[in-house]
Amino acid sequence: MSNLENTILVDLARKLFRGCTNFHIEPDSVKLMTWSWQELFVDLTLRSPVIKKYPISTELSRIFLKKLINCIEPVQEVHDNLYAELCRAMNNSAIEDYCYRHYVISNDLNNIITMKETKNMVVNGTTGMRTWEAALMLSDWILCNKELFSSKDVLELGSGIGFTGITLAKFCEPKSVTMTDCHEDVLQVLCENVDINFPSQCKNRSSDGTTYELDNTSFVPRRHPRYDNNHGC
Ligand SMILES: C[S@@+](CC[C@H](N)C(=O)[O-])C[C@H]1O[C@@H](n2cnc3c(N)ncnc32)[C@H](O)[C@@H]1O
Repeated sequence: MSNLENTILVDLARKLFRGCTNFHIEPDSVKLMTWSWQELFVDLTLRSPVIKKYPISTELSRIFLKKLINCIEPVQEVHDNLYAELCRAMNNSAIEDYCYRHYVISNDLNNIITMKETKNMVVNGTTGMRTWEAALMLSDWILCNKELFSSKDVLELGSGIGFTGITLAKFCEPKSVTMTDCHEDVLQVLCENVDINFPSQCKNRSSDGTTYELDNTSFVPRRHPRYDNNHGC
C-alpha cells in the first residue's frame, strides 16, 4: 500500500473509531480505495480486536458506512465486507444508552484511548457523560507540553468520564493524577474508563466516592508515542 493510501486509511479509521460521521472524501482519494484497501479498512476498524471488545455505536457506524459506500460506489466495486458490516449495523436496532469511542493518539492506530460514553451531551442531569471537544483540545495542548506534567501531582476538576486525565496519565509521566467529579453516575463511568485504559494498574477511590485516584508510580509507560494533533473531524 502506498503512503497516500495508508494516510487516507488511517485518517478515515480515526474518524470511525471516534464515531465521527462528518467527513468528506476527495474524488482522487476514492480512486485509491480499491477492493484490497476496503478489505484492510474493515479488518483494521470494525473487525479489529479493540472494536470487537468495545463496540462503537451501531447508529454511528451505520451512518458512516452508508456515507462511505455512497462515495465508493460510483467509482469502485464495493467490497462485500463493507456491505456485510452495514447490514450488521442495520440489523442491530437495540437502543444504546452507552457506546465506546476510540481516540487515536498516534498516526498508526496503535495508541488508542477507549472511552465508554453516551451519545447525548446531557444525560441524567449531567453534562459529564460525554467527552467534550474542550477535553480533546486540552489534551492536544497537554500532549504538546508533556514536560510541564512530568513527575507532578496533577488534579483535574470536573473530569467527567476522564479523557483528559487518562491521556495525561498515559503519556506525560506524572507522579499522580487525581480526577474529580461531583456526579455519582459520571464517577461510575470514569472508574470503568480507567479500568479499560489501565487494566492492571493500582487505583484507589476515596471513601466519599467523589475522588478517583491513580497511583501511577508503577504504570507510566516508558516509551512515548509520536503524537499527531489531528483530533478534529
Ligand atoms: C461539561 S462537563 C466536562 C467534562 C470533561 N471535563 C470534558 O471536557 O469532557 C463538566 C463536568 O464537571 C462536573 N462538575 C460541575 N460542577 C462541579 C463541581 N462543583 N465539582 C465537581 N465537578 C463538577 C460535571 O459533573 C461534569 O461532569
